[in-house]
Amino acid sequence: MIKKICCIGAGYVGGPTMAVIAYHCPEIDIHIVDSNNERIDLWNSDNLDNIPVKEPGLSKIISKVRGKNLFFSNEVDKYIDLCEMIFIAVNTPTKTSGEGKGMAADLKNIINCAKQVSLASKSDKIIVEKSTLPVRTAEKIKEILENNKREKINFEIISNPEFLAEGTAIQDLFKSDRVLIGADQTESGKIAQNKLIDIYKKWIPEEKIIKTNVWSSELSKLASNAMLAQRISSINSLSALAEKSGAKIDELSMAIGKDHRIGNKFLNASIGFGGSCFQKDILNLVYISRQYGLDEVADYWHNVVKINEFQKDRFSQIIIRNIETSSNQTVSVLGWAFKKDTNDSRESSSIAVTSNLILKGLTVNVYDPLIKINQIYHDITAYLEFKNINQKNITRLLKKLSVKDNLNDCIIETDAIAFLTEWDKFLNIKWDKFSKNQHIKNKPKIFDGRGIIDYEYVSSLGYQIYQIGNGDNSIN
Ligand code: NAD
Ligand code: UGA
Repeated sequence: MIKKICCIGAGYVGGPTMAVIAYHCPEIDIHIVDSNNERIDLWNSDNLDNIPVKEPGLSKIISKVRGKNLFFSNEVDKYIDLCEMIFIAVNTPTKTSGEGKGMAADLKNIINCAKQVSLASKSDKIIVEKSTLPVRTAEKIKEILENNKREKINFEIISNPEFLAEGTAIQDLFKSDRVLIGADQTESGKIAQNKLIDIYKKWIPEEKIIKTNVWSSELSKLASNAMLAQRISSINSLSALAEKSGAKIDELSMAIGKDHRIGNKFLNASIGFGGSCFQKDILNLVYISRQYGLDEVADYWHNVVKINEFQKDRFSQIIIRNIETSSNQTVSVLGWAFKKDTNDSRESSSIAVTSNLILKGLTVNVYDPLIKINQIYHDITAYLEFKNINQKNITRLLKKLSVKDNLNDCIIETDAIAFLTEWDKFLNIKWDKFSKNQHIKNKPKIFDGRGIIDYEYVSSLGYQIYQIGNGDNSIN
């Protein structure tokens, strides 16, 4: 029976997953460690509104387990040594330099963790890969562990990828569709696998716990994300066709999704998927496929990302085409998070769309219920730097951006409103009240990138609307 767990990485995965294990396994002490002191301080904050990951239900669980059997610390070595099972839940972004730049996963954090675990351990450890990793990473981790270890100890590596989605993380962790545990098919591998199964069995029905070899588990995670993203790119590609042909994408999604072999999930057309994982995981899959000489496979998956870029650009161009860019007009961007109910804006489509608008000289007001102003400026700056825009121009462009702290201020005087995140709050805009004081000529144009506006009703109040995938659009 495992009694002590250490998790390296106190992020969107490490925080919620360990909180849920701690909640279901009061007999296990769990220490989440991170090299980012500021993040650890926020997790330890007395005021639960300050914890760094915003997820429905998370702060309630933290309030029940923190200080009892869940602890946050920056003493990485100490807790590696103390615990029998070490989860690695550090970030694995796309490489920004060197071989595989822009495609391969950057394994720097994983390599550092492996070295640190190896050097700090004085007893046998089970290492659990929780981060999303290229297939056969366990091999590299094993090599680093063996080459750096100081004591004669055994390291067992198992793969246990995480499938939670942000915004529903707690719900997903409580009622997982499946828990995947890949291990070496050796005696010691199977023992380690069973120790992790014993933990999950506390709340996950046994038939949902899948045992595989390590490589199937590592690859299944990349493949799952690729399949989900592929559905979004499929429906988004069809949204462009629906607009041209007079069809409606929501009717298409409904008709397609009624086929139980296809199913109705992940068929919402949008301005493109965001989030820290879909793009990076597919690019990684593309890179791995090419490494194995499978160019056709690589090209197939690369198109999922290309359609996503096409969709973000297509949406930006529709706004630019329909707003007078020469007379300092204003666009109100509603939503910065990559989806509702999260404070995460990594790879959010709002970043690319807003950048395209300010680059064309438009003024942009932004409102998001959870993303902080500093984060919004940071996201735009990083994006423009990535596009090789110099600092002087970035400073000039940022003057075109204004972040509002409430919805009303953002949309009160504007030439266009663009819905980029599907926050519930945006569904409750009182259009009749809002439209009362606006002369027909002054009504902002509406660009609905999430299909959340009641098109018939809002049109009836005199607004011109572009809605993603709607063949009836009055603007296109
Ligand atoms: P994150 O950036 O939110 O958190 C990672 C944390 O690891 C950071 O706080 C960072 O400071 C810490 N860290 C990095 N290197 C470290 C080191 N050597 N020592 C100590 N701490 C270190 O990342 P995340 O969103 O939690 O994602 C983590 C992994 O899980 C990624 O591989 C991701 O692909 C995968 N994943 C993420 C999600 C999600 O919804 N975010 C879902 C499933 C899987
Ligand atoms: C996704 C997967 O759903 C998780 O299973 C996985 O664990 C996680 O990635 C990961 O590996 O990080 P997440 O990115 O948090 O989770 O959120 P999703 O709900 O998948 O949404 C991703 C993006 O796709 C969002 O921008 C969302 O708005 C968009 N989306 C989603 C659509 O445009 N249409 C849809 O029908 C569904």
